[in-house]
Amino acid sequence: MPSLVAPAIPVGAFAASDQPTLPIGSGALLRPWRIADAEAVTEAFQDPEIQRWHVRTADSVEEAREWIEGWQSGWRSETGGHWAVAGAEDDRLLGRVSLKSLHLEDGKAEVAYWTMPAARGSGVCTRAVTTLTHWALEKGGFHRLELEHSTANQASCRVAIKAGFEEEGVRRGAALHADGWHDMHLHAHVRHG
Ligand SMILES: CC(C)(COP(=O)(O)OP(=O)(O)OC[C@H]1O[C@@H](n2cnc3c(N)ncnc32)[C@H](O)[C@@H]1OP(=O)(O)O)[C@@H](O)C(=O)NCCC(=O)NCCS
Repeated sequence: MPSLVAPAIPVGAFAASDQPTLPIGSGALLRPWRIADAEAVTEAFQDPEIQRWHVRTADSVEEAREWIEGWQSGWRSETGGHWAVAGAEDDRLLGRVSLKSLHLEDGKAEVAYWTMPAARGSGVCTRAVTTLTHWALEKGGFHRLELEHSTANQASCRVAIKAGFEEEGVRRGAALHADGWHDMHLHAHVRHG
């Protein structure tokens, strides 16, 4: 049955150009993942807070390598955009920010993130999310970005609000964590025009 609406992002348009590297200020940038990041990713997933909110751990560097290969291939397969947040000078891994659950026809995606424990509290996640949001809405062709976190994750809520994601309500019992079902607070950023 033919659609009466042209897709917001035509098939192939997302992958047509190379994944960009985006400066986020204060000596940091977003860049595509490298296999060499596997040790730092393994370390990140030993952190109890990352384990708690991302409900997984990395058993080995080899496993982290496989995740990175999946993140790298997401761009060309148009299933996800995954960036490492890294120091511009020393390339030290500071965190991660992603566009996942891509729905290109509707120009929609979900934003996800974590910050390495040592880099927290300096605004790096907020700058990463703000920069990625600007790119996705102004250059990437997206119309709506969603961001969701457990109502118990107040630090994530602060990042969402500081990055300009408006609150849209709570989805009750929407995600299973290690300690049970969590209510999920939904935020979104919508391109106007
Ligand atoms: C959430 C997370 C990504 C924030 O990273 P970050 O780089 O420290 O973020 P920023 O510095 O940009 O902002 C953090 C904000 O949270 C606030 N914050 C930190 N811990 C908090 C807490 N326990 N309760 C309330 N606010 C808190 C900080 O004060 C800051 O807000 P402010 O600037 O208004 O003071 C990081 O804490 C993290 O990786 N947590 C574990 C994984 C996770 O929760 N991922 C998100 C899943 S939805």
